[in-house]
Amino acid sequence: MRGNLLVVSNRGPFTIEENNGSLKYRPAVSGLVSAVLPAVKKIGGTWLAWAGRIAEKPAEVQAVIKDEFQFVEILLSREEVEGYYEGYANGVLWPLCHLMPEKVRMYEENYRIYREVNQKFAQKAATLLRTGTLLWIHDYHLALMPHFIRQKNPWQRIAFFWHIPFPPVELFTIQPWAEEILRGLLGADIIGFHIDDYRENFLRAVERVLKLPVNYEWGTVYYNGREVLVKAVPIGIETKNFQKEVPEITEIEQEIAGLKIFLGVERLDYTKGLKEKIQGFARFLEKNPEYRGKVKLLQVAVPTRENIDQYQTYAREVLAEAAKVNERFGDNHWQPIKILKRNYSQEELIYLYRIADALVITSLEDGLNLVAKEYIASRKEPGVLILSKRTGVARQLNAALLVNPYSPEEIALKMKEAIEMPDTLKKKSFSLLKEQVILKNNEWWLENFLGKELRLMDTGFGKYY
Ligand code: UDP
Ligand code: G6P
Repeated sequence: MRGNLLVVSNRGPFTIEENNGSLKYRPAVSGLVSAVLPAVKKIGGTWLAWAGRIAEKPAEVQAVIKDEFQFVEILLSREEVEGYYEGYANGVLWPLCHLMPEKVRMYEENYRIYREVNQKFAQKAATLLRTGTLLWIHDYHLALMPHFIRQKNPWQRIAFFWHIPFPPVELFTIQPWAEEILRGLLGADIIGFHIDDYRENFLRAVERVLKLPVNYEWGTVYYNGREVLVKAVPIGIETKNFQKEVPEITEIEQEIAGLKIFLGVERLDYTKGLKEKIQGFARFLEKNPEYRGKVKLLQVAVPTRENIDQYQTYAREVLAEAAKVNERFGDNHWQPIKILKRNYSQEELIYLYRIADALVITSLEDGLNLVAKEYIASRKEPGVLILSKRTGVARQLNAALLVNPYSPEEIALKMKEAIEMPDTLKKKSFSLLKEQVILKNNEWWLENFLGKELRLMDTGFGKYY
């Protein structure tokens, strides 16, 4: 097998479903997967992850698939999914890191299970490590894993990328487990965040909670006799994947004829600001009656984390909000909002990106947001990007129409500005956006975050890159 890289994440490249004894593979909807997949394909190696399957007995068969890379599946029990994934990772770390403490649900038991599952991942990973393997762990589900690996194998090179925001220390320490999480992460040799703010928040937390000296300029921390390097390198996309020809989606063709289209593409997550977007759109229709019957908001809303209470409530609220707006402004011939409540393949998304006059992103807090980059990369004609200031990607794509997602007034204004934008201005800002997306693509990310590590280890990087 080519490549000597071991990638570990909670969500793998696909979810596996059992259907009458046969296994069905569905591509995962996750920014992490979209970014890591092209990187793993480039280098080769092994990807260890959960594929969404629940198994109560450890002996049940786990899938091992050999393709452009080897995929190794981790199975979790119902109790593990509830405690580790739904309970602590998505019930504490996710809302806390997205600055939403009111959504946090803290239970000691869930944290205990989170620790155990991190140990389980570490044990499985240890069996897959060979001499010279670079271990690359991803995201908030596996924050303790670097420490567990380090305990067993002090010489292992470990990289870690944190895909979501890292909050200010005052918020991070609301949870009683903050210190252990920080020590867990510091088991790595190199830790990556998307933007400087998150990197600084992390360093400040290390300084305050662990009382360790930190070099902010160099991003270094000395911990247990080792130097840990902390970097900010925003993920990039494989732009060439978004330039292919794709077929139409017939059901959508009928929806859009003759209309100006605003598009949204999100998981049904409370951090994504879907309610706020709908309220902003309602305000736009209220203030600009001449556009009634002439525009439409197409909103892809992918069901996500459906066993968690907050997500069930949020999904209901979003649908109710959309129904309210359709009732208020729509008639027999025209409905202003169409919610597309399923997940779309990359090809289908490219089609949607191309038919949209403007992409509207109103995340309340978002680590990066890859959809913004995909929209830019897919377009043959210039398009307009309305982008929440509270996304990591807004630092890079500042030629977009930046918006405060908490203000329906501002969203409404930007929507008007987007569809009335003169062609020359549209072209100019689009070419600035495109330059960023192409320049800082997936290869740029890989090289800048991990290039040195990949060459230091015997990963085969360079031969294939
Ligand atoms: N995505 C997808 N199908 C869908 C909706 C989204 O494959 O129906 C993909 C999208 O192309 C993107 C990722 O899911 O690559 C979402 O990444 P993003 O960073 O925008 O948000 P996340 O969901 O990771 O928070
Ligand atoms: C975010 C997280 C990823 C996660 C994705 C989808 O992008 O950073 O780690 O995979 O959301 O969420 P899910 O819970 O379905 O994996």
